[in-house]
Amino acid sequence: MESMGTLRRTHNCNDLGLENLSQEVTLMGWVLRRRDHGGVIFIDLRDRWGITQIVFNPEINKDVHAKAHQLRNEWVVAVRGKVERRPGDMENKKLKTGCIEILVDELRILNTSETPPFPLDEDSDFSDNLRLQYRYLDLRRPEVAKNLILRHQALQTVRTYLNNREFLEIETPMLTRSTPEGARDYLVPSRVSAGKFFALPQSPQLFKQILMMSGMDRYYQIVKCFRDEDLRADRQPEFTQIDMELSFVTQEDIITIVEGMIAALFKATVNVDLNLPIKRMTYDESMLRFGTDRPDTRFGLELVDLTEILSGCGFKVFNTIIEKEGAVKAINAKGCANFSRKDLDDLTEYAGRFGARGMAWIKIKDDEWQSPITKFFSDEEITAMGKALDAQPGDLILFGADKISTVHQVLGELRLELARRLDIIEQDTYDFLWITDFPMFEYDDDAKRFSAVHHPFTAPFDDQLDMLESDPGAVKSQAYDLVLNGNEIGGGSIRIHNPAVQEKVFKALGIDDEEAQEKFGFLLKALTYGAPPHGGIAFGVDRLIMLLSGSTSIREVIAFPKTQKATCLLTEAPAPVNRKQLTELHLRPDWKED
Ligand code: AMO
Ligand code: AMP
Repeated sequence: MESMGTLRRTHNCNDLGLENLSQEVTLMGWVLRRRDHGGVIFIDLRDRWGITQIVFNPEINKDVHAKAHQLRNEWVVAVRGKVERRPGDMENKKLKTGCIEILVDELRILNTSETPPFPLDEDSDFSDNLRLQYRYLDLRRPEVAKNLILRHQALQTVRTYLNNREFLEIETPMLTRSTPEGARDYLVPSRVSAGKFFALPQSPQLFKQILMMSGMDRYYQIVKCFRDEDLRADRQPEFTQIDMELSFVTQEDIITIVEGMIAALFKATVNVDLNLPIKRMTYDESMLRFGTDRPDTRFGLELVDLTEILSGCGFKVFNTIIEKEGAVKAINAKGCANFSRKDLDDLTEYAGRFGARGMAWIKIKDDEWQSPITKFFSDEEITAMGKALDAQPGDLILFGADKISTVHQVLGELRLELARRLDIIEQDTYDFLWITDFPMFEYDDDAKRFSAVHHPFTAPFDDQLDMLESDPGAVKSQAYDLVLNGNEIGGGSIRIHNPAVQEKVFKALGIDDEEAQEKFGFLLKALTYGAPPHGGIAFGVDRLIMLLSGSTSIREVIAFPKTQKATCLLTEAPAPVNRKQLTELHLRPDWKED
């Protein structure tokens, strides 16, 4: 190994072109690959910016050529040499530097490398676990690095946009109390206060509201949040939010400001001009038509409610469900009457994963409705269903019958699966949609009580305050989510700034005074010292960048992500700690569940 000596880098590996011919330059980077061509050695030298071809010719410099024989993949080198034009047939159109190469006069080997456990020069399919274990190698691959670069650009654009509009970037604590987003907390035991715990924030929700009460007026933060929940492709235990809060604003003000921000972000990163304003749909309409509050509206296959038509029908399964106040809905899979038995079995199995107890179907053929269940329906029922579903010969009707939430879950997912199978989802589009007018509360059948749909600090509409006591289930809130291609990328609300309203909401949630004081006393107190009207929103940065980069998992846009099991394969965290640490934290080292 050698030092850089007097060599200093003059250019990066993506800089040089025909305009630099005959210049003497110094490049530094990693050996991506080495090729021996009858005496002449070529290496592709790689850094964050790109790749430049380096040539060692024994006729130019014998010693350097001999030294280049040692080079192996991922060794770190410095080269000094002259920029030359490549012979015409050796040009590489795919590289920005593809017209030139560097004829080397001086080579310094700055470091060697073990043979990498996977090739860095191809987009081959090696395991995600290996990639995460050797994340430093994985991140050297341009297709992975480009996501981090995109993420940087996006966040810089957001910062500039908000800075130009009088927002202050203010940090809030990581060691704090439980916040109200409703996931499980990550806890940190206190050494100083025996038996007490900090919670890592699920979001800065309460602090940002308190900053409004402090007169900061406009706050933002690009901030880590922690939620101990079951992981999926779009969920990590720690993730990043663009978190904002504003004073003296309405829902419309917030929507206008963040639409501008999202448009600026898309322009700066992928050079796409968004059509503003973004379209909107109420929560009720979204559930009715798509069975979900984050609908993918790039295709149809909407849900059609047949409950009324089929009430009292001869098919017992449906009728029993309807009598028990359940629902029957269906999707018209246009042109799918040719689906095979296996296709239908697969879809039934798929629906089962989301709680379906079956998936009745009807194939619409020219002269008949083919299905084991057709015989149970009257002519009137068939005519009415056909009309509601706009059923034409060649179509396939898929049914979901259950309590309404299950029907929505099942058909909402079935709809997506059908669209994927039929390949009808338009790619390369950014389909944005605001969902508004969420219910304040949803009834939790298991706990037999209401819980907050957004969080308990979300304001109901002013003209519905009376209903908080009389009919809480019907109250709508000033909450809004931003959906992109069927993904929830942001959500927020106008907050309650009136202590009496806050008290009523806690009451509707079955949180008594004592519990409210214990959990959120500091916020309730702050509310009594002149809280301004305020509201805000938070965007999931990882999801946003995932969609911007066309990735299929948020892991692809996080430098050091966790696995599905919430572990870090690079550092092997979480890890055991020693007895002394546990004792200091007042934790019982030998604790076992009874
Ligand atoms: P919410 O809980 O809706 O709102 O979160 C805001 C956004 O954060 C993203 N997100 C996640 N991304 C990756 N992994 C996760 N586990 C995860 N959980 C959430 C989503 C979501 O839209 N304090 C409120 C915001 C407010 O009211 O201002 C909040 O946190 O994209
Ligand atoms: P069965 O009478 O149980 O043989 O069911 C007849 C058809 O109805 C089958 O195709 C089942 O998959 C379907 N089915 C049963 N229960 C449901 C349900 N809850 N929702 C939709 N289809 C169902």
